[in-house]
Amino acid sequence: MNKKIKGAITALLLLAIASSCKQKEPQNTVENNKAVSKEFETKSDLVVDFSDTGIVIQPTMYGVFFEDINFGADGGIYAELIKNRSFEFPNPKMGWHEPNSVRYSLNGDSGFAKVTDYVNGKGNKRYVHVMVENDQRYELYNEGFRGIGVKADAKYDLSLSLAKNKGITQISVALLDTTNTVVGQTNIIPKEHEEWQTYTATLQPNKTVAKGKLKITFSGKGSIDMDLVSLFPQETWKGRKKGLRKDLVTLLDGLNPGFVRFPGGCIVEGMNLDNRYQWKKTVGAWDQRELMINRWNIEFPNKNAPDYFQSFGLGFFEYFQLSEDLGAEPLPILGCGMACQFNSGELVPLEDLDPYVQDALDLIEFANGSTNTKWGSLRKEMGHPEPFQMKYIGIGNEQWGPEYFERYKVFAAILAEKHPEITVVSTPGPFPDGDMFEYGWEQLNELDVALVDEHYYKSPEWFLENADRYDSYDRNGPKVFAGEYAAHPKDKDGIVENNWQAALAEAAFMTGLERNADLVHLTSYAPLMAHADAWQWAPDLIWFNNLEAVPTPNYQVQKLFSNNPGTNLIGITKNDKPLTGQNNLYASAVIDSNTQEVIFKIVNTASQAQEVNIKLKGQDVVDKGTKTVLTSDGLEEINSFQNPNNIVPQVEEITAKEDMVQLQLAPQSLNVVKFKIK
Ligand code: AHR
Repeated sequence: MNKKIKGAITALLLLAIASSCKQKEPQNTVENNKAVSKEFETKSDLVVDFSDTGIVIQPTMYGVFFEDINFGADGGIYAELIKNRSFEFPNPKMGWHEPNSVRYSLNGDSGFAKVTDYVNGKGNKRYVHVMVENDQRYELYNEGFRGIGVKADAKYDLSLSLAKNKGITQISVALLDTTNTVVGQTNIIPKEHEEWQTYTATLQPNKTVAKGKLKITFSGKGSIDMDLVSLFPQETWKGRKKGLRKDLVTLLDGLNPGFVRFPGGCIVEGMNLDNRYQWKKTVGAWDQRELMINRWNIEFPNKNAPDYFQSFGLGFFEYFQLSEDLGAEPLPILGCGMACQFNSGELVPLEDLDPYVQDALDLIEFANGSTNTKWGSLRKEMGHPEPFQMKYIGIGNEQWGPEYFERYKVFAAILAEKHPEITVVSTPGPFPDGDMFEYGWEQLNELDVALVDEHYYKSPEWFLENADRYDSYDRNGPKVFAGEYAAHPKDKDGIVENNWQAALAEAAFMTGLERNADLVHLTSYAPLMAHADAWQWAPDLIWFNNLEAVPTPNYQVQKLFSNNPGTNLIGITKNDKPLTGQNNLYASAVIDSNTQEVIFKIVNTASQAQEVNIKLKGQDVVDKGTKTVLTSDGLEEINSFQNPNNIVPQVEEITAKEDMVQLQLAPQSLNVVKFKIK
């Protein structure tokens, strides 16, 4: 009998026990998430038992999932403000405008930028040859990513590459607001040289503008070659040149993530194999990374984003560096020779899989190898001689069917032989149940894999009903990585999906993840980010525009869990049973052996307040502690750009009496309670 069958039998037994218990306890249901069950009790007695602290909460328990979706990278966390900076889009002048020029004219009264190919161009294939006939009339604009956002008095680094100057005496670069008023300007004096040279300057706008644009004008009659027009805020995360948006990374840092999963998601697999994510094309000099269409450009016909491409300015080196900055384990996911099965499902024949496997081996060398190796030396060249200490690698994203397992086995065998120190992450497909999920788990059990990446994008009700999902999983099988999940409220789209109903349901579910910390070793909400004017998928953890960012209620839930993970699990029960919805209550408890604290997370999904009396069995606590409450006036409430702090945690001081804690739980609230242990 394989482990999965054993697990299923145990599950059935537990289910039978649980359903008999359910008849006695008032249960949470779809309807009573909005209200309370008939048998609702206003007071409950709970017990926290300190006798068994054997289950360790993994430091990786709460992490983040990053994918370049919703303009999360280009136009988002990668702080470049110029779209199509290197004229590499298939339509090379997309995002650029020449209002006084006509394509089918000699433009004698203006000028024109002619798209030109480099001889033997590799990553960077094109530039523009700018011909200026009338310098009073020729203007070249870049529209940015849904506009260019700049802040008054902040400094912005401009850089551009120029060559073959003939007669151009000055280039003026200005930032304009939406009324075309100049809010900042700088001049560049190009020298006469044949070869490419980089020029830099600083722009300091005198006004904050959310949707500005860049205007380039030229003095003199003549021509000049131009490429790599780039504008970055000086204030980036850690002040890195051409770095990441500080406000967005600061929000990630606030989550204290245990790991960063990158670069996706479906983007790993590609719509077809040509479009798969190839990490080797994303490292090395930033200006030589070959552009590729972003699969989310065309994935949803009603959310087309024709200007969505991947510049890979945020590439694998930067992902590793970000993980390190955040104190998080890097967790790259690699393609396994299968394009996204929701798209073409294109397969690499098994006999041609070698280059894909080699990519995985080379990635380990890039991340961890000595600087004497090919890929380790590139890491050093890029500024990081020390290894990144990568411990995990994912093979495939949401693959399903026998074709996946045939390919997975090839990877797994070679990785086990050459890199037994690396934990390999595998997938049972995109759904949390159904035939391919069951088949996937059967195969993964047989292969005795280490870590299985489960995904669930489901209704808030599903999350409430599944708070006990992992209680019945086989303890002798693979560990679980809840790698992508989010509650999707019905009939909504956009930021309104990140409402309190969804966040509360996730909080309830997360107590179930934590209660099963012996099995569930990594978890991450998905997707992470969305540009308010350029998104394809909702809900998302963080919404942003060109200037601001909104941490959603879901973010606040994640933050409360990830900043209070504890080190060891302990039991919290009512009538000797874990709290999985009885009387609308969900709970988990941990101790933190570093801070000598006990931490309870208790969710009340009822629309009514309730009181809980918690008996601490085997441990007294000091008399003063804290209760951090996250709640809202209504399930439809959200955090918005207008009101980003609508739903944020409030901390109260509370008291305990040696081994008794009495708590008032607000309606529809997540409560994180902490006491120092005596
Ligand atoms: O998170 C959005 C998408 O959902 C991911 O790219 C994919 O893995 C899943 O289907």
